[in-house]
This record gives sequence, C-alpha cells and structure tokens, in this order.
Amino acid sequence: MEVDNKMYSVGLLIVATLLVAKLISALIMPRSNKRLPPVVPSWPLIGGLLRFINGPILMLREEYPKLGSVFTLNIFHKKITFLVGHEVSAHFFKASESDLSQQEVYQFNVPTFGPGVVFDVDYTVRQEQFRFFTEALRVNKLKGYVDQMVTEAEDYFSKWGDSGEVDLKYELEHLIILTASRCLLGREVRDKLFDDVSALFHDLDNGMLPISVLLPYLPIPAHRRRDQARKKLAQIFSHIINSRKQSGKSENDMLQCFIDSKYKDGRPTSESEVTGLLIAALFAGQHTSSITSTWTGAYLLSHKQFLSAAVDEQRELLKKHGNKVDHDILSEMDVLYRSIKEALRLHPPLIMLLRSSHSDFTVQTREGKQYDIPKGHIVATSPAFANRLPHVFKDPDSYDPERFAVGREEDKVAGPFSYISFGGGRHGCLGEPFAYLQIKAIWSHLLRNFEFELISPFPEIDWNAMVVGVKGKVMVRYKRRELSVN
Ligand code: HEM
Repeated sequence: MEVDNKMYSVGLLIVATLLVAKLISALIMPRSNKRLPPVVPSWPLIGGLLRFINGPILMLREEYPKLGSVFTLNIFHKKITFLVGHEVSAHFFKASESDLSQQEVYQFNVPTFGPGVVFDVDYTVRQEQFRFFTEALRVNKLKGYVDQMVTEAEDYFSKWGDSGEVDLKYELEHLIILTASRCLLGREVRDKLFDDVSALFHDLDNGMLPISVLLPYLPIPAHRRRDQARKKLAQIFSHIINSRKQSGKSENDMLQCFIDSKYKDGRPTSESEVTGLLIAALFAGQHTSSITSTWTGAYLLSHKQFLSAAVDEQRELLKKHGNKVDHDILSEMDVLYRSIKEALRLHPPLIMLLRSSHSDFTVQTREGKQYDIPKGHIVATSPAFANRLPHVFKDPDSYDPERFAVGREEDKVAGPFSYISFGGGRHGCLGEPFAYLQIKAIWSHLLRNFEFELISPFPEIDWNAMVVGVKGKVMVRYKRRELSVN
C-alpha cells in the first residue's frame, strides 16, 4: 500500500513537472513559434535530404502550390527556408552580410579557389577583392576585351567548312573557354599554355561534385586531383606574373588588373591571391556563359519569327556600320540582347542561391501573410523557379523575348528582383555585361555568316550538373552565307 502511494506521488510529480515545463516554454517563447513558415512534409531524419537530392526544383514545383511562397525544409538539424518570388525575397538580396551571409554556404568553393580569396576571407577583404573584379570589368576594360572576343569568334568559325553538321554545345563551350582564356587569364595562357591550363581547369571542374558541397575535403580521387591542379595552376601563374613584372609589360586582361590591384592599406595582391581570383572568375563566368549561348541558339533556331528578327537587326547594323563589331555596336543589339535574356530567364544556370541567416527577419507574402524567419536558418531563393512565376511572366514557359521590349518589360513591371538569373542587390553578378558582350559577339558573328537548322530534338535540361546546363548534344546543320544588306 505504501509502495502504491509512493508510485502515485512520483507519477503526480512527473506530470506536474511536465505541465510546468510546458507552461514556462509557452511563456518564454510566446509568439516566435506562431508565425514560422510551414514545413515541407518529409520522412524523419533523411526525408528532407532525399527530397532535396531528388531535385530542389521538383520539390519547389510540388510544394509551392500547397505551402505558398515561404516554407521550410528540414535536412537533419538544418532548416532551409525558401523564399520564392520578388514579394518575399527583397531582404535576401538587400540584407547586409552581418544579417545574411554567403561565407558559410559557399565555403565548399574554398579548396577550388584556394586560400586567401573570396569565401576564405572575411567580408571586409572579400569586398575589396570584389572591387578588383568591378574595376577589371569596367567599360573601358570591356571595350578592349570585346575586340579579343570578336577576333576569337572570327578565328574559331573560320575553321568551319562551307557547310556541315556540328554539336553546337561542344563548339560554343570550346570557343568560350578560348575567349575566357584570352580576356581573363591572359595572352600567355591563351597562346602558349592553353592545353595545359585547360586540363588543369578540367580537374578543378571535376573536383566540384554534389558531395563536395557537404564534404569539400573528403579524401576522394576527384578532390586529390583538384588539389594538385590548384597547386600547378599557382605555379604557372606565379611564373607568368613574375615575367610580366620583370618585363614591365602591361596587357589588357583581367590578370593584369588583378596584378595591379591594391588593397586600401596599399598592400598589393599576392601571386596566390591573383591565381585564386582568376579561378573564381573562370568558375563564375565560363560554364554560365557557354550554357546561355547554347540555349540562345537552341531557342532561336526553333522559333523562326524571333530568329528572323535577330537576323534583321544584324542586317540593319551591317548597313549602318559595315562589318565592324565593337563594344558600342554590340550594345546596339537590343533584339539579340532580349533573345539571350529570355533564354536565361527560362534556363538560369545557377538554379539556387543561398545565404545563412544571422538575425531574425520577417517577410510578407503577396497574400498578406507574415512569416518570421529565425536566425540560424539557411535561406534560399531559386532563379529557375522564380523566373517562371505566372503572375510575373505571362505564359511563363514559352520563349518570348518581346516580353522585355519597351511597353511590356514584364521583369520591371512586377517590381525589383522579379528576374534573378544574375541574382541582384548586394551580390548581383559583376560579370553580367561581360557575359552579354561575349554571347552577343558570338551570336552576331554566327547570324551574319551562317544559316542554321536544328537537327536534333530540342535539348533537355541537365539537372544533375552543379551549373545546370544542356543535356546531350545539340546538333545543327550549317551553311555559310553572306547576309545581304538590301
Ligand atoms: C550568363 C552568365 C552568368 C550568370 C547567369 C551569372 C550569374 C550570377 C549569379 C546568379 C550571381 C549571384 C550569386 C548569389 O547571389 O549568391 C553571380 C555573382 C557573381 N558573378 Fe556572375 N554570372 C554570369 C557570368 C559572370 C561572369 C562572366 C563573371 C566574371 C567574369 C561573373 C562574376 C561574378 C561575381 C564576381 C559574382 C559575385 C558578386 C558578389 O557576390 O558581390 N559572372 N553571378
């Protein structure tokens, strides 16, 4: 009997303790839990991870209609909150680094870019390094790069026959690496060391796998090759930098800009930093641009009315300027610009942008719902999904470059951060003008000098790539022509 009483008292004590604990927790955290975003349903533990690995865009397509524009996915102990659409993503793009930072989420780039640059340094240094990028990509520099882009395109396509069949994707990838080498890495690499350096960049590329995002230092062969390639590239660039310094010769390329760059305290960039910044530039700009030029071609060749508008524009410019193509003439190519921009709306190569949140913030959806995003969450937005929202872009899955023409300007009408292929705000792409100039230089040459026919089916998306691109070959039949100006 005494034992029963004791059991009863212990039971009561436990229940009372649980009740008090619940009450205290409700008092301590009264509202913070109330407006948390809805959570994506998934199996416990690895369910969230599986849904993410299975394809983040697929997950967004399934959950957006059910949960709305703000929701959280649990992956182990991490919470990723998605902000979909311009109404809820302004803070994502505008917040200061102390509120939403890139450093943690983009850490996996460090072994590729190398020590002392970009995500391996604190924000004040990184800001200065981005200033070096900005200076290297100013209009006066771009004007010089354009001449090199045009020469590279002319040389490359002069090797094609009068007619033939090619894999457009392969050809454009190849040309863009040559152009990027010339404008970014410098004449020495382009003229003498192209094959060696390309092979090393290939190893760097292959060393960035989906697993590298989670475990960048995992001792696997691909990572070992990446690390060796990074070391060899540092040696090659050290040699080039030294001989440029000794000869006193200056070139018009990004390498020279980085060599000449100085931090605010007067310190010049080190050889290792110059190498790291060049690798970062190539990673940011090479695949993104070659993928975009391939999509542009695939869409133009399968949409005759837009193709003939782009060809007519070239005819007009030929009439006006003759054969000359320079920075200012490329800047007049509005139809081509819109054709590229629309391909990029449908297929942004960077499908997911991430930040790590260090302070709580609140967002309001277009339906007027408010959600509190707690610090500690990873915050994500998706160009691939946001660029196809039907309340922003009319008939969003169709290719219609005219949606950007004066009078429609769908990307502007809806408000800032509606079109986010180049990100925007505080960390918007610094290479956007370079990318457009490069793709325009290539396509204006192709439109002026060749007729094309797409002979393989319209390409699919390669969702498995880190930089999402075109799956398989894009076969075209070409025939040389001279565009008549009459
Ligand atoms: C079609 C081509 C390109 C696309 C689609 C593209 C896309 C992007 C996007 C989406 C971001 C923002 C990332 C974020 O917010 O987390 C970004 C940033 C950046 N891009 Fe590009 N990019 C392209 C070409 C280039 C080129 C050619 C360069 C340089 C030569 C470049 C250099 C950069 C740099 C330095 C940043 C970081 C800016 C910052 O954080 O302040 N990009 N790019």
